[in-house]
Amino acid sequence: MNERAAVPAAEKAAEQCCIAPGCGARFRLGERIYICPRCGGPLEIQCEWKIPADARALRQRWMERGASREALDRSGVWRFRELLPFPAGVAAVTLFEGNTPLYDAPRSAAYAGLARLQLKHLGCNPTGSFKDTGMTVAVTQAVLLGARTVICASTGNTAASLAAYAARAGLQCAILVPRGQITAAKLAQSMDYGAAVLEIDGNFDDAMRLVQELAADPAVYLANSINPFRIEGQKTVAFELLEQRSWELPDHVVVPGGNMGNSSALAKGFGELARLSLIPRLPRLHVIQAEGAAPLARLFARLDPAQRRGGASSLPSEIAAVEAPQTLATAIKIGAPVSWQKSLRGVLESGGEVLAVSEQEIADAKAIIGRDGVGCEPASATTVAGIRRLVAAQLIRREESVVAVLTGHVLKDPDYVSHYHRGTLALRAGEGSDAKTLLTISGSFRNAPERVGATREAVLESLARKQKGPNAPGGAS
Ligand code: F0G
Repeated sequence: MNERAAVPAAEKAAEQCCIAPGCGARFRLGERIYICPRCGGPLEIQCEWKIPADARALRQRWMERGASREALDRSGVWRFRELLPFPAGVAAVTLFEGNTPLYDAPRSAAYAGLARLQLKHLGCNPTGSFKDTGMTVAVTQAVLLGARTVICASTGNTAASLAAYAARAGLQCAILVPRGQITAAKLAQSMDYGAAVLEIDGNFDDAMRLVQELAADPAVYLANSINPFRIEGQKTVAFELLEQRSWELPDHVVVPGGNMGNSSALAKGFGELARLSLIPRLPRLHVIQAEGAAPLARLFARLDPAQRRGGASSLPSEIAAVEAPQTLATAIKIGAPVSWQKSLRGVLESGGEVLAVSEQEIADAKAIIGRDGVGCEPASATTVAGIRRLVAAQLIRREESVVAVLTGHVLKDPDYVSHYHRGTLALRAGEGSDAKTLLTISGSFRNAPERVGATREAVLESLARKQKGPNAPGGAS
């Protein structure tokens, strides 16, 4: 690795900038802030890189690092460090995140009405979700700032990821989660990594308000995606995706939307590649929400054509929160997303859409993704459900190149999977004997276990029946 050819990090002039229209205040990287201290607007890190005249040399360097044994090179995030706001040789807190697979998914493609579909599976990160690509950067910054405690609100994955990285860094970790609304697997991870798991009587949006209050203490560092350092790590997914496609730009990139950090980060990543002339234009970025938790999709549906074309300058200044969000995709059960402005700006600049899909659509899309041999958690499956809608509405054409970003591993929510395949999946409100069933989901692609006798004949007879049935291998589209 020839480090002398690298961009000297000292030449990177990076600042935290407010992106609220009419503000534009700028702050040093070392300031422990999460929103603009002047106007309360969202912050973003902006960097003036001194890039070699031929930016394509960077591509070569990034790829070569894939074969290196150096810790920073083995991370699929720090491998792209020329575009991260840190000095060379930073002591990164890493679990060797990133470097996640890009799969061809023929059955999901056929189901969605496409000739071809690729799945970028961020669930293959160390703690099983995309959060790790951001957390490595946020916790590195927490250590640099001398924080004692890191904190987050979470629907489960942010918590598991922060807990792991805090453990690596030897920091205290406090996670605030809505009681009874987190999958057992995600909660178990946080317990295992030694975090203080605080279950609050409230929903995610209440937890989010609370952690922002707690982060006023200078010893406490907030690691939700409102923190612009999180976004810096997550933007590298755009770089890795392009590298995996030999720098051939996809026409569409489709992501789930919850608190809106991920879509904001991908938009920033693609935007930076375009600024560096490493890609000729932006892929259209589409964000998909669950119908019961879709504040951005609702706002998007009300934008007039001038607002859709106007980009950042014409963005609405407020979003109407969904008071009691409901979805079985618990990861995205969020009514008041904190990063909606950055996300919407990215969608509009790229000519994308924001839409909502039903619980049944999510559940069926998840089962189809499974048939491609790729397991994901329910929130991730909004992508394939959304693509199917966009193809039906002719907003994506059959022959176009499309990447769906899967955000979490199938084992994050095994109860959901099991209930779907057994035909017992239902959305309920309330607890215990007071619980009311709001919606039952039919397992259109059910694959329940079957009890068979302990004889050769019984097993062969069952397999022969299945070979002809709707669950035959290769079927289900
Ligand atoms: N998919 C999964 C699996 C998630 O865990 C989340 C968010 C999202 C999608 C949505 O991403 O918030 O960046 O728009 N999970 C957060 C958490 C809220 O606390 O784990 P987003």
